[in-house]
Amino acid sequence: MAEFDFDVLVIGAGPGGYVAAIRAAQLGLKTACAESRETLGGTCLNVGCIPSKALLHASELYEEAHSGALAKFGVNVGKTTLDLDQMHAEKVKAVGELTGGIEFLFKKNKVEWLKGLASFTSANSVEVNGKTVTAKNIIIATGSSVAPLPGVEVDNEKAIVVDSTGALALPKVPDHLVVIGGGVIGLELGSVWRRLGAKVTVIEYLDQILPGMDKDVRKDGARIFKKQGFDIKTSTKVTGVSVKGKKATVTVEPAAGGDVTNIEADAVLVCIGRRPNTSGLNVEAAGLSTNDRGLIEVDHRMQTKVKSVWAIGDVTPGLMLAHRAEDEGIAVAENIAGQTGIVNHDIIPGVVYTHPEMAGVGKTEDELSAAGVAIKIGKFPFAGNSRAKANRDTEGFVKVISDANSDRVLGVHIISSLAGTLIAQAAQAMEFGATSEDIAYTCHAHPTHSEALKEAAMAVQGKPIHM
Ligand code: FAD
Ligand code: NAI
Repeated sequence: MAEFDFDVLVIGAGPGGYVAAIRAAQLGLKTACAESRETLGGTCLNVGCIPSKALLHASELYEEAHSGALAKFGVNVGKTTLDLDQMHAEKVKAVGELTGGIEFLFKKNKVEWLKGLASFTSANSVEVNGKTVTAKNIIIATGSSVAPLPGVEVDNEKAIVVDSTGALALPKVPDHLVVIGGGVIGLELGSVWRRLGAKVTVIEYLDQILPGMDKDVRKDGARIFKKQGFDIKTSTKVTGVSVKGKKATVTVEPAAGGDVTNIEADAVLVCIGRRPNTSGLNVEAAGLSTNDRGLIEVDHRMQTKVKSVWAIGDVTPGLMLAHRAEDEGIAVAENIAGQTGIVNHDIIPGVVYTHPEMAGVGKTEDELSAAGVAIKIGKFPFAGNSRAKANRDTEGFVKVISDANSDRVLGVHIISSLAGTLIAQAAQAMEFGATSEDIAYTCHAHPTHSEALKEAAMAVQGKPIHM
């Protein structure tokens, strides 16, 4: 009889966990994955990346048709009406197809789904649904959930004070949506409801929105969102939210203290970050503890200090992004199988899927300046890009930052309707150690938005053509 029930047991079937499980099985390891949700795919597929992008796409179509923006292209549409139930239904269909797809992949790769909440009983065993399961290796991929705002009670059922899950399913368009937190979720989901007709006010504690992004993206992003109608109140803190009937009152004051103001809202979205899921996991039984932020620390191989226990994704320190979790899922399975799985955490792109999209990879200008690195910067506006001009979609720019001595590209930051797609090229070039000259002398198809990246790289060299 085998010493363990499984070679690998993954806890959590989000983008980290399900990818790790499939990769482990592909490598010939007997694998199980415990997931407490009704469906596989974790936060990302069920209540994160996928439903938010489905609504971003649908709401963009609605706004395009409804706002009359198509008329200048000679496309005249009749009266545009919103069928919100149908919009939600199509989103639910996309989510169902994708979560069902993971279930199919589990069966295909012979990954056993243990349905229920897993809790450690030792460094090689967990309890799931009252049954003890043993494994030679256990991967913690339990992800994260919404961080609460002290004193503010979220009730997604009532659909007045909601978190991101509630904001993905509001039954009607609020007249006034107040978003607490000017980060990624606030601007993406704020965009959805603004496009569908809501007045959107964003309350941000810091002096700028979109923390972590390059300063030019943050500054220009704020200008663009304001132009779109967002009311953005930075350096402002929320001191309380009260609900009376179908209305909420959000009490705010300057972050540094000062006069209190009340803002009336029909819906309030709380999105001030996410925190790791470890409660109920009983990591102590495995000989582990969490750090002061509740995260599980790992080494570069994604192994914890207990050799049989590994951890990936949102539950570990680093960017809370699906593609980072997925790449770690592949790497951890390869490491367990005796191969060399690596994730380059310095080159993980981040994308905000608003219109235009905002994306970055590598270091920001401020990070490099703070580290005392001598840099060269090249910027190219989409107003000088022929394809963007032809599409009448010229908002944004590409900013390439390279090392002043070696010319190696250290960061690329983009605002463009296609920023999320363009950033992949920058990430690949950086992964290959490209210089800005390498990008500048690579032939880019014309007319494409990608030529703006080439021209920004040429600007680093001091010689763009179309500017
Ligand atoms: P998760 O996806 O959180 O999955 C963890 C799973 O573990 C969950 O299904 C949970 O039920 C399960 N679990 C937890 N504890 C246990 C237990 N004890 N036993 C069994 N199962 C357990 N990222 C992007 O890169 N792009 C985006 O566009 C994007 N959009 C987002 C939009 C929203 C609204 C939100 C909230 C997040 C978004 N993210 C996005 C972030 C992304 O969803 C996460 O970074 C990603 O899901 C993390 O993957 P994970 O595998 O670490 O954890
Ligand atoms: P976030 O960290 O992006 O933004 C939270 C914002 O709230 C910050 O600007 C912060 O300064 C502000 N804030 C914190 N406390 C506050 C307070 N008391 N009052 C007012 N403002 C306050 O977190 P968010 O938007 O909740 O997203 C969570 C995670 O999900 C992010 O880490 C992100 O990586 C991930 N995500 C990624 C997406 C993508 O890749 N497109 C989309 C959505 C989420």
